[in-house]
Amino acid sequence: MIHLIIDGKTCIAEEGEILLSVARREGIEIPAFCYDETLAPYGACRMCLVDVIKGGQKGITTSCTLQVSDGLEVLTETPEINRLRKALLELYLAQAPRAETIKALAERYGVTKTRFAKKVVREDPLQNRCILCGLCIRVCSEIIGAGAINYIGRGQFTEINTPFYEETESCMGCGACAEVCPTHAIAYKDIAGTRVMTSWSETKVLLKQCPSCGKFYAPLPFTAFALEKLDPPIQEDLKDLCPACRKREAVRKTILLKMEGTLES
Ligand code: SF4
Ligand code: FES
Repeated sequence: MIHLIIDGKTCIAEEGEILLSVARREGIEIPAFCYDETLAPYGACRMCLVDVIKGGQKGITTSCTLQVSDGLEVLTETPEINRLRKALLELYLAQAPRAETIKALAERYGVTKTRFAKKVVREDPLQNRCILCGLCIRVCSEIIGAGAINYIGRGQFTEINTPFYEETESCMGCGACAEVCPTHAIAYKDIAGTRVMTSWSETKVLLKQCPSCGKFYAPLPFTAFALEKLDPPIQEDLKDLCPACRKREAVRKTILLKMEGTLES
């Protein structure tokens, strides 16, 4: 274990841990949009800046890519960091004018308007809320292994969607992208037995129906994909029923077993 200092507080961590993770564990808040502990460091949004004052390469850097070492000392708020964050927030307000999470953070930094032209797109599949942080793309490829979405275009025309804005068979409808999106930009809806990934070119994915209660409860391709990764006995247990019916079935089995035990004794 090593010792480091964040904003004057001595913290203990493992050598090589990511500074942003250590700070979060210690209850020290650093704004961050593109970091997820389950994914490889990326450093795209630049919100998580810290100033290294001792024990490393001195200067301002992103805490989500900084590995800690013994004797490291950083500050998470300085006039220079705040100036940079304010400028970034102005850019994000222009890039994603309908993102409430951006507006809320900007307000905390005293930024209520932007000097940049707002990019309002009519019928934007990402609801004018996408800041291009790339989390959705990374979770889809690194965790789910589907690679259904990616960046499209360049510079100010960069967007995120399916290849050629067409429905894609790669999408399993798991919704992990929507789960991680820091600005709640990704939309999908379940209509009868189908999940429609509204943001991803209206890609349609069939939902699995519970044979007991008839409820549509999970995207079919994703359940098949997830089941494959489990041991056969667990697969058998989880195969068909929805979570509610599975629970009911487990309780029913326990009661029957207890009754059998009572009758036998
Ligand atoms: S849709 Fe959300 S997660 Fe994906 S890049 Fe945009 S802001 Fe990030
Ligand atoms: S969270 Fe560090 S650059 Fe985005």
